[in-house]
Amino acid sequence: PEVLRGLLQVYMKDGVVELPGLRDKLPPEHGLAGRTPLEIMAASSEKRMAEGFTNRFSIIGSGTSWHATLLAEYLIEYMARIPVEAHYASEFRYHEPSLQTGDVVFVVSMSGETADAVESLRQITKSALGKNVLKIAVVNSSSSTLAEESDLVINVQAGAEVGVASTKGFSATGFVFELLSLALADECGTITDAERSIFVKRLHELPEGMQEVLDREAKPLMQTSTDNPIGIGECPLWDIGCQNVLAQNFIFLGRGCSFPVALEGAMKCKELAYIHAEGYPAAEMKHGPIALIDEFMPVVVVCPMADATYEKIKSNIEEVKARNGATIAITEKYNDELEQLCEYVIGLPETHEYLMPILAMVPLQLLAYMMGILRNNTVDHPRGLVKSISVK
Ligand code: G6P
Repeated sequence: PEVLRGLLQVYMKDGVVELPGLRDKLPPEHGLAGRTPLEIMAASSEKRMAEGFTNRFSIIGSGTSWHATLLAEYLIEYMARIPVEAHYASEFRYHEPSLQTGDVVFVVSMSGETADAVESLRQITKSALGKNVLKIAVVNSSSSTLAEESDLVINVQAGAEVGVASTKGFSATGFVFELLSLALADECGTITDAERSIFVKRLHELPEGMQEVLDREAKPLMQTSTDNPIGIGECPLWDIGCQNVLAQNFIFLGRGCSFPVALEGAMKCKELAYIHAEGYPAAEMKHGPIALIDEFMPVVVVCPMADATYEKIKSNIEEVKARNGATIAITEKYNDELEQLCEYVIGLPETHEYLMPILAMVPLQLLAYMMGILRNNTVDHPRGLVKSISVK
């Protein structure tokens, strides 16, 4: 919550998004000199494309940062109607990028040093059109290699992250892309005043919403008593963790902008609890993973009522139930319908559909952490993982 509050304070002035450098003209040596990053980015919108522009956004990252790039793809396309493609840095760096003048490339990396991300950026810089592409680093360190070699740096200001598996990094990067999407929607004229004021109100409520989830799900555990040393019944997530800690597999489902959350939830489950987990777009379940569902398969479904596909995802839950799978729903508080339908429900405060991923991520991070603790894992330093992979 403090990180989100800090970002609002630094990057939002009188209700307008003010990311550093967004409105400054690029220097004369740049192929797109004389225009501001915001103008260049907005030139890719559907509206401007009708005027003859065909430029695109590519967003590149690794690990958790890749999941943040996928979330960014949904947010920017929904809010600003700009075509975006998310890429794994490890794949991008080995393919011949088909760049055009005016393309915008974001390289997302908390350390700013991940070798695949750095090489992806260099690949663009050295290509024939490299000078005519806007290169933006989204990092948690302004002195990193990526920051130094990009045209524009957006610092997600997440502060130091103790755990090797990224958590704050995802929330902070996701939140920065929420802000950027709003700036782009303003510039592209794709948001009405009424939609804007609801979104801005919800943005400001988000830190408090996140705090509410943490207070309910994490705080009681730290205050366990001698009568109840492991805190049974203290918070719903801990009980879910205790019930499912011996599971050998998990499935995480989500649709739309909840899909990247499902992917990241599955990754946290692997990293912290050492339990195999698959993240899937909910409706794709019937094309394969459904064959795995039985009474031993817990299925976490990220299904906010605010989501445009909420009704559809309910039928995916029915399909899991028909196969005796246990469903754990992440949705808004007081969702009676899902309380009836699912084994477990984690209720979140209400927010805007596009902001829900930031809130929904928190219980999934905590669940993985709790199962890691229950399995006696070294959650801050999971086996085989390192904070940043800067070797080639
Ligand atoms: C490592 C870490 C992950 C992280 C990934 C990308 O694999 O264990 O937690 O998401 O690197 O790191 P970056 O610094 O590029 O965001």
